[in-house]
Amino acid sequence: MKIEIRDLEFSYPAGIQALRGITLTIGSGEQVAIVGQNGAGKTTLVRHFNGLLQPTSGEIQIGGWDTRKYSVAKLASRIGYVFQNPDEQLFSRDVKTEVAFGPKNLGYPNEQVEILVHEALEMTELSDKTEMNPYDLSPTWRKMVAIASIISMDTPIVIFDEPTTGQDAANIARIANVIKVLRERGKTLITITHDIDFCAENFERVIAMSQGKILLDGKANEVLGQEDRLATTYVDPPQLTRLATRLELNDTIIREDMFLTELHKKLTRTL
Ligand SMILES: Nc1ncnc2c1ncn2[C@@H]1O[C@H](COP(=O)(O)OP(=O)(O)O)[C@@H](O)[C@H]1O
Ligand SMILES: [Mg+2]
Repeated sequence: MKIEIRDLEFSYPAGIQALRGITLTIGSGEQVAIVGQNGAGKTTLVRHFNGLLQPTSGEIQIGGWDTRKYSVAKLASRIGYVFQNPDEQLFSRDVKTEVAFGPKNLGYPNEQVEILVHEALEMTELSDKTEMNPYDLSPTWRKMVAIASIISMDTPIVIFDEPTTGQDAANIARIANVIKVLRERGKTLITITHDIDFCAENFERVIAMSQGKILLDGKANEVLGQEDRLATTYVDPPQLTRLATRLELNDTIIREDMFLTELHKKLTRTL
């Protein structure tokens, strides 16, 4: 499902202008990472998609629905938003109830709720924790509960706000796997991240934001290769990209497989 944003501006009541004219289209089934310094406006932008915030001016269409004309509850059938902080999101006594809340609330029949909950728990590796209170789980597992409770709604668009922040390597791999499965299912995925390696490995398109505007938008390797412009929004290219640049490899490299191919080419040329 497509997201279209036109001339979006937003100021918080306190007067801070957080978004300063954003025009952007995210196509159906695209996977996009949003990067940029703290305070760039990333969270403010995505909170407009499901109607948590309303534009000061400009508009957003979610599959043709103008977010100003549809309630948050309605938009929830199209957009799932995983909060950066699970504690802002979770409220149930046990994991299963939490994960079942969304699809029940969307009015799916009971049998389908069962199937969706089962799948979401499997995907997040929570199947052995269904009876536990989310607050007795470690922060990493609480993160997975927050993710499960959104993907169980089976929305065509899923947003992750800083999913890997504070997570250990095992959980980052779990989250990457969830993203891979959702990608295979043709979901439109938007992920805000500071983890530039995670971004390079999992997303085709990268948008860099700075001071309420879009600074760069394009294919991951094209955007992540622009070291100087990224530096203005305090984003470093992946370590591998910087190493490849120093080795003067041809293309902008963002993944190990690309690195090895280009290194091999260079070595064969010099031998
Ligand atoms: N609830 C709020 N009230 C007032 N200002 C806010 C609020 N949330 C964020 N801001 C301000 O809006 C700007 C953008 O913030 P945010 O969207 O959270 O950035 P990011 O997610 O890129 O770190 C910042 O200047 C921030 O201080
Ligand atoms: Mg944020």
